[in-house]
Amino acid sequence: VSEERPIKNLVLIGFMGTGKSTVGQLLAEKLEWTFIDSDAALVSREGRSIPDIFSSDGEAYFRNAESRALADILSRNRQVVATGGGAVLREENRQLMKGQGMVVALTATAEAIIERVRQDTNRPLLQGDVEERVTSLLVERQPAYRFADVTIDTTDLSAVSIVEMIAGLIE
Ligand code: S3P
Repeated sequence: VSEERPIKNLVLIGFMGTGKSTVGQLLAEKLEWTFIDSDAALVSREGRSIPDIFSSDGEAYFRNAESRALADILSRNRQVVATGGGAVLREENRQLMKGQGMVVALTATAEAIIERVRQDTNRPLLQGDVEERVTSLLVERQPAYRFADVTIDTTDLSAVSIVEMIAGLIE
């Protein structure tokens, strides 16, 4: 007899501005699972904002704190986890995500992302020339999102329809 293993968590990965937090919140409501935003968890543990962490202690410090926050979050089950856009950069984080859940990558075109993040002041990596930052980081990052179990292009989809698609995968 084969017994299906229940999915432990749903882990949303993707570049900044692909809708991980918006989709994650709605998806968690629909599934009646807990929603966790890994950036928000990190900020509350650190007691300071992401721009503050980057400017006082730098990106390497942030990445270490991010890995610790993820390990803590993914020790639990039945959660929809929205990860920070750079959480996939470390192999250890990718392994952890795969081992502890189904990994769903959200993508969008550079144009759509630029439109969505243009007014943002909370993302240190996008300060300055937003077009240039998004375009070059996207090229650099794209390979790191490919380990996902499923990839959804959000460019022309509403959050609600993305939620339906993901819920359909596990119900
Ligand atoms: C980052 C993405 C951000 C946040 C930090 C770094 C990145 O999360 O973790 O600013 O390296 O892509 P969002 O993807 O939720 O914006």
